[in-house]
Amino acid sequence: MADSEIIMRKNSQGLWTAVDEYFGGLLAPSDEHLDAALKANREAGLPAIDVSPLQGKFLQVLMRMTRAKRVLEIGLLGGYSTIWMARALPRGGRIVSLEFSPKHADVARANLKRAGLLRRVDVRVGAALESLPVLAKEGGKFDLIFIDADKGNNPRYLEWALKLSRRGSVIVVDNVARHGKVIDAKSAESDITGTRRCLEMMAANPRLSAFAMQTVGAKGLDGFALAVVR
Ligand code: SAH
Ligand code: DHB
Ligand code: MG
Repeated sequence: MADSEIIMRKNSQGLWTAVDEYFGGLLAPSDEHLDAALKANREAGLPAIDVSPLQGKFLQVLMRMTRAKRVLEIGLLGGYSTIWMARALPRGGRIVSLEFSPKHADVARANLKRAGLLRRVDVRVGAALESLPVLAKEGGKFDLIFIDADKGNNPRYLEWALKLSRRGSVIVVDNVARHGKVIDAKSAESDITGTRRCLEMMAANPRLSAFAMQTVGAKGLDGFALAVVR
């Protein structure tokens, strides 16, 4: 690419997508099971709001950095992020994934089965706020918790994540930048108010050491927050 073209495409979606594709092609290449999952999601009419390949790889790297063996995902959709994470589980490891929609859960189970990973994933269908107390009763803490469902409930999901954590547990909150709308303190959208409240709680809780990063990529301006329980 000529310098002039780089300058022309600077800050443009086209350039972000091209760089995402370059990094992703090298570090998070697709394969038949990931492709099949995205195809099945499309055919079933699921929204294309899965993590990107590189974000999936990021979750894998995080799992390996923290030797995560018990993982909680809030928001399964078609299980694309779950496939990435399940592949990084050590022997005997397990992911519990919460999903409100029975249809999404069915598509996800088929995707996970095709990828040979269904035995490692415990899908719980229902509102996450109803499944979380059940998990707390069952006992056992999670090493990594990925919050990626209805953003308006993020403050509550963060509270549950803390209850289900031990020292060293890692909490990831997806989609905190919302195309930049997160800076609108006057927003009445539940996604924005929920995200902002969740970030404030992360900042204020002495049990958490937290940071957030904005990202650009194929899906525009986004970001995630990452915290470790002290
Ligand atoms: N983690 C997935 C994307 C999840 S999209 C991936 O990256 O592949 C968000 C999912 O959360 C949707 O499937 C939606 O149905 C689900 N969801 C929304 N509200 C929910 C709730 N209250 N409880 C559980 N799941 C919910
Ligand atoms: C949305 C939700 C997500 O989890 C995501 O990764 C991207 C977008 C959404 O609701 O728009
Ligand atoms: Mg998300």
